[in-house]
Amino acid sequence: MAALYASKSVNTAVISKLYPTRSHTGTAQGGISAALGNVEPDKWEWHAYDTVKGGDFLSDQDAVDILCREAIDAVIDLEHMGLPFDRTPDGKISQRRFGGHTNNETKKPVMRACHAADRTGHMILQTLYQQCIKNNVRFFDEFQMVDLLVIDGTCRGVVAIELKTGETHVFHSKAVMLATGGFGKMWKITSNAHSLTGDAPAVVLQRGLPLQDMEFFQFHPTGIYKMGILLSEAARGEGAVFINDKGERFMERYAPSMKDLASRDVCSRSIYKEVRAGNGIGGKDYVYLDFRPESINKYFAADGSPRHVDAAYIEQRLPDIIEFVRVYMGLDPITDPVPIQPTAHYAMGGIPTDLDARVLADENGTVVTGLYAAGEVACVSVHGANRLGTNSLVDLVVYGRRGGVCMAEFAKQAQFLPISQEAHREAEAQLNGIRNNNGTERPGQIRKELQLHMDEHVGVFRTGNNLESAIEEIRELKERYQKIKIDDKSMKWNTDLMEAWELGCLLDLAEVTAFSALARTESRGAHYREDYPDRDDKNFLKHTVAWGNGHPRVAYKPVRIGRYQPTERKY
Ligand code: FUM
Repeated sequence: MAALYASKSVNTAVISKLYPTRSHTGTAQGGISAALGNVEPDKWEWHAYDTVKGGDFLSDQDAVDILCREAIDAVIDLEHMGLPFDRTPDGKISQRRFGGHTNNETKKPVMRACHAADRTGHMILQTLYQQCIKNNVRFFDEFQMVDLLVIDGTCRGVVAIELKTGETHVFHSKAVMLATGGFGKMWKITSNAHSLTGDAPAVVLQRGLPLQDMEFFQFHPTGIYKMGILLSEAARGEGAVFINDKGERFMERYAPSMKDLASRDVCSRSIYKEVRAGNGIGGKDYVYLDFRPESINKYFAADGSPRHVDAAYIEQRLPDIIEFVRVYMGLDPITDPVPIQPTAHYAMGGIPTDLDARVLADENGTVVTGLYAAGEVACVSVHGANRLGTNSLVDLVVYGRRGGVCMAEFAKQAQFLPISQEAHREAEAQLNGIRNNNGTERPGQIRKELQLHMDEHVGVFRTGNNLESAIEEIRELKERYQKIKIDDKSMKWNTDLMEAWELGCLLDLAEVTAFSALARTESRGAHYREDYPDRDDKNFLKHTVAWGNGHPRVAYKPVRIGRYQPTERKY
């Protein structure tokens, strides 16, 4: 979105470590919210309130207002570009329910998520890619960014490795936007793809810049058991429910009003509370997601709804996730309940930005000239302590568009600032260091241990003791990382080398995540401290700003409150 909007007035290139249409946006399933009111009454202000409440009042409310107001126009913009949304019988964009999205007057779930079956992200990605090609955006496919040229507070380009050849390239530019997505590969059970290793935020840390609110990482309640592959919340939007070993719809106890459509942090904790109470299926650490048509109809009837669904309807609305269950589990969701567990899904934190996607260098709002960030990698902050489903896609189109326009305006009046002939040397030395290291440690083993520690100690439930041991473990892993050895010393398609480099990024981000979480001695949104189970607005209604790179420290900055004063969150 940023490239498309920037390319309307300046020369624009996209550097992507993947073939661009394989980016992780393509796996976003259930929808993109906008208060279009196509199916039932809705208002962008309701969307804004739900977002702030869902974020447990940590969102900056001016940023949320922009998000929800501009979502309407952004979705129509995508429609005009040709995105094949599903339609209502009268031809409007179809909308469905998603967790935490409500009619603020009735307090009931509202149909706000615009969707293309359960392939909404895929359709967005394809549509934007086609538009970029039409607009002559130049794509450097399978070039991996390994350094950022930030000199005297201005960004002057990036250093990237061409994966096909192993050659280093310096891209000298007037402005750079980072839109590299998340870093869920810190955890073992994750919905994130292999590529989501947080390269850009790790390089930001290495360049002495901070990250914001890293302790807030969302666990999506419905990952396929043991695999983490996402089963869209749209299933529950269409009427699916969670079931425990006793066959109970347990969300009635935890969220009497929204039930299975409570926010994700609430659902994930409720699942593990059931497991701890011995109500996991067969006494194990999972529950069922039940989207068999007869179950959906039973619960619709119990809720007093005349709605009735059949297998054909469910297959048409949720084709991809039904296929995933059939392929990966050998089960059929039309006839079988599906084993699920929470899966590490989304970073609410990331690279701090202002409302025009400009990257911030500190807690006082100092702008890094020429550097922008948008989407999951950024923290503007709209999602606060917990993101509502569908708002990731809203964030990346709304703030991608704003950032693209802003960086183009900047580039039109900016000069190319000088860079050294040696600009690539630091990154090259880092990679050669890994290539030629003759240690005893295997990157794959370190990655495995990191993911297990993160699952165990920096997951849905946290305590001070667990976080302290996580920090110790991560630091030990970082020391062992200095002694790694890889087998492939070649240049071309050296995935051994790049994965080892990515592991370094994950270790840096894991450390910042754990010490930011240790410092926040309260529970808010996705950050749940069993030793501090209450939200503490007196001391922690503030954003964490954290630096790493060998000098870990945290500072704080206030949350920008608007119309909505913090209240107790009830679902
Ligand atoms: O459940 C889902 O379809 C995921 C959506 C999201 O993370 O926004």
